[in-house]
Amino acid sequence: MRKIKIAIDGPAGAGKSTAARLLAKRIDYVYIDTGAMYRALTLLALKHNIGWDDENNLVALFEQHKIDQYGSTTLIDGIDVSDEIRTNKVSRAVSEVCRHRDVRQKMVKLQRQMAQQGGVVMDGRDIGTVVLPDAELKIFLTASLEVRAKRRMDELRQMGKPIPFSEVLANIKQRDKMDSTRKIAPLRKADDAVVIDNSFLPIYEEIDILETMAREKIADI
Ligand code: DC
Repeated sequence: MRKIKIAIDGPAGAGKSTAARLLAKRIDYVYIDTGAMYRALTLLALKHNIGWDDENNLVALFEQHKIDQYGSTTLIDGIDVSDEIRTNKVSRAVSEVCRHRDVRQKMVKLQRQMAQQGGVVMDGRDIGTVVLPDAELKIFLTASLEVRAKRRMDELRQMGKPIPFSEVLANIKQRDKMDSTRKIAPLRKADDAVVIDNSFLPIYEEIDILETMAREKIADI
């Protein structure tokens, strides 16, 4: 059976990672978290004191190091940074790194290679529009701002990094603005994407819906 490509896009805190991970597990596909890849480069930039406007050195960093991403695991040069890339410090800075054209070009190239064989559920902001415009199934996952901020706050608390709601809300608001107004590959629903608002949708129902859609597509091709 041919394996398809599934793109899941949407704003921060819409639950893309959870949905993509669970869907991939159900249909035995590989889950790729592209946000984690931008976060890994941001972590590298913080460690090497590279300025946010220094596009050449950000690209050089990308070329000098190896970023691996599969499922919930992100590695830099073979070292597991899955937790470190979730700190608030990285969350605050990542939009600065991912707005550069050359940085995105490098990332997109790598992401396309990772998805080449199909059998992937890839989540991000520009997957359906830029990275995999040929994806057989495109989902645009969203939820209200408050619901998204609450989820992010709970996630950080679980990681032992409690942050006040107002701060998480401000961070999400700012990222929404930067992600959707940036010049290159802004967050935008692909014309052929299906919108799912999960503000009041239990996760198991959401995954059932996604699984049905995916299986229908797989059966169609
Ligand atoms: O999904 P996330 O919050 O981990 O993403 C981190 C940042 O990376 C977010 O500010 C948007 C950006 N991003 C992007 O520009 N393009 C992607 N394909 C994925 C994430």
